[in-house]
Amino acid sequence: MVNYKDLGLVNTREMFKRAVAGGYAIPAFNFNTMEQMQAIVQAAVETKSPVIMQVSKGARNYANATILRYMAEGAVAYAKELGCEHPEIVLHLDHGDTFELCKDCIDMGFSSVMIDGSHLPYEENIALAKKVVDYAHQFDVTVEAELGVLAGVEDEVSAAESHYTKPEEVIDFSTRTGCDSLAISIGTSHGAHKFTPAQCTLVNGVLVPPPLAFDILHEIEKKLPGFPIVLHGSSSVPMDEVNTINQYGGHLEAAIGIPEEQLREASKSAVCKINIDSDSRLAMTAAIRKHLAEHPGDFDPRQYLKPARENMKKMYIHKIVNVLGSDGKLAQC
Ligand code: 13P
Repeated sequence: MVNYKDLGLVNTREMFKRAVAGGYAIPAFNFNTMEQMQAIVQAAVETKSPVIMQVSKGARNYANATILRYMAEGAVAYAKELGCEHPEIVLHLDHGDTFELCKDCIDMGFSSVMIDGSHLPYEENIALAKKVVDYAHQFDVTVEAELGVLAGVEDEVSAAESHYTKPEEVIDFSTRTGCDSLAISIGTSHGAHKFTPAQCTLVNGVLVPPPLAFDILHEIEKKLPGFPIVLHGSSSVPMDEVNTINQYGGHLEAAIGIPEEQLREASKSAVCKINIDSDSRLAMTAAIRKHLAEHPGDFDPRQYLKPARENMKKMYIHKIVNVLGSDGKLAQC
């Protein structure tokens, strides 16, 4: 049994409290490679931002659970080496689907877990989340639960259509589960194809997706004043990265994300954690495709992974500074 505090990690409680009060959101970036981890830490250190590094079940299967946990411990040491004396790094399980998976992560040093029972009937979602909370809180590990269903595909998580969170359920759900934060469904979805062109409006040649359901978010905020709210599926799918991928041999059709202005707006509310994974995948793939097309003789992975890491870091910094507003928000620099 390893406690996250021994690894230099923090849970989400204090950073969420400050984010809700301060009107900004903490970035939750998924990682499963060393280059992603390095780029996330460099971006967080340079911007003096707290950061959540999250690992999905798919990432654990890909990279190995033990390696990822040591990478998170390494991330803390790396942040200090880069000059940040008091980094605030959370190691979070994204979309835990069973009590056993959450327990395994808690036992190996995660400081935060998500139990996603959103696909279950309401009472079963409550029972599962409460079981995880009861275990996690013994070790001061914070727990995110979800109400409402997001559409889209991401690793093992997929749903054909979304069901918005019902504001009338949130008080009962958060009270009975004891969860520390609540992921809600207000129109975001997982992956790089969040909307079909038919769902969008064409404005000056650009496909603009339907707006997020801010009315539902505000109703939830009224019911749970100051309670930390989480948005999944919040990549904006930048067109320049999609165009670069397609220019250099890729084939991404109708890739559409959440406009950044809407995420900026959401960050000012009780939304205090915003999940971004697809944008990192796009930034990495675009840089690798471009490099290999322009340097067909290169075969040393460092030659193309270095620009990939730089491109991801640029994207992470942009999100922190221009979208979420978490720059300069470390409790102690
Ligand atoms: P994106 O696919 O929009 O990046 O969402 C990631 C996510 O919500 C991880 O849980």
